[in-house]
Amino acid sequence: MNKLIVSLLLTLGITGLAQAAGDAKAGQAKAAVCGACHGPDGNSMAPNFPKLAGQGERYLTKQMQDIKSGKRTVLEMTGLLTNLSDQDLSDIAAYFSSQQGSVGAADPKVVARGEELFRGGKLDQGMPSCIGCHSPNGAGNAAAGFPHLGGQHAQYVAKQLTDFREGNRTNDGDTMIMRSIASKMSNKDIEAVSSYVQGLH
Ligand code: HEC
Ligand code: HEC
Repeated sequence: MNKLIVSLLLTLGITGLAQAAGDAKAGQAKAAVCGACHGPDGNSMAPNFPKLAGQGERYLTKQMQDIKSGKRTVLEMTGLLTNLSDQDLSDIAAYFSSQQGSVGAADPKVVARGEELFRGGKLDQGMPSCIGCHSPNGAGNAAAGFPHLGGQHAQYVAKQLTDFREGNRTNDGDTMIMRSIASKMSNKDIEAVSSYVQGLH
């Protein structure tokens, strides 16, 4: 597993996107249209719209570029990024990244199983824990582009894990890291770990 993380870090480090520095103040104005779904400060109210507040800048920029190019399909955002430049995307990423993310609560019925998966993985099946990349408190690793998960809506997290498992989200790179992890998870596992993540901070 450690070898996997190291090689992923190396790949991401070397081939990392060239990224213009974002201007959070300029980004706030450009993000006005996004607030309808993601919340004006990036803390969305609806559980199927991801929170963007406090998310790493590098991860946000990559997702916007992937959504814009069609590498990641988000039907709700069709056409919304078409006329935004790389600088616009960097500014918007800087804005949402500078906001404070809110935290939800985990379902007490599944929290123990969720914690076990998040912190220990499923070693018998070669599935690593999540903490190596997303960190023990769910903060992720902004420099490496590993997303912040703590406090994210459980419904959104569960959809992503299911999409990775079913091959409906494929923008996790040539290492297919999230597709291979999700392929080891049952629906029950996904429900438990997603609920745990929602309450994590
Ligand atoms: C009509 C609702 C809607 C609007 C408006 C909208 N989005 Fe989204 N956005 C979504 C949905 C839904 C998803 C998640 C789709 C999925 O389940 O994969 C998403 C996903 C994202 C993601 C990926 C988040 C992650 O954690 O991976 C980013 C980044 C994003 N949107 C940025 C924006 C920006 C920037 C704007 C404004 C220019 C915007 N969105 C406007 C609905 C919207
Ligand atoms: C080796 C590193 C690594 C490990 C281990 C890992 N992840 Fe990830 N994860 C990533 C990367 C990198 C991405 C971003 C992929 C992309 O660019 O789209 C990601 C994306 C995600 C996303 C999508 C986030 C969003 O906002 O859309 C979720 C959910 C997720 N991981 C959950 C998990 C869970 C749960 C575990 C443990 C069972 C886990 N990950 C283990 C590296 C990892």
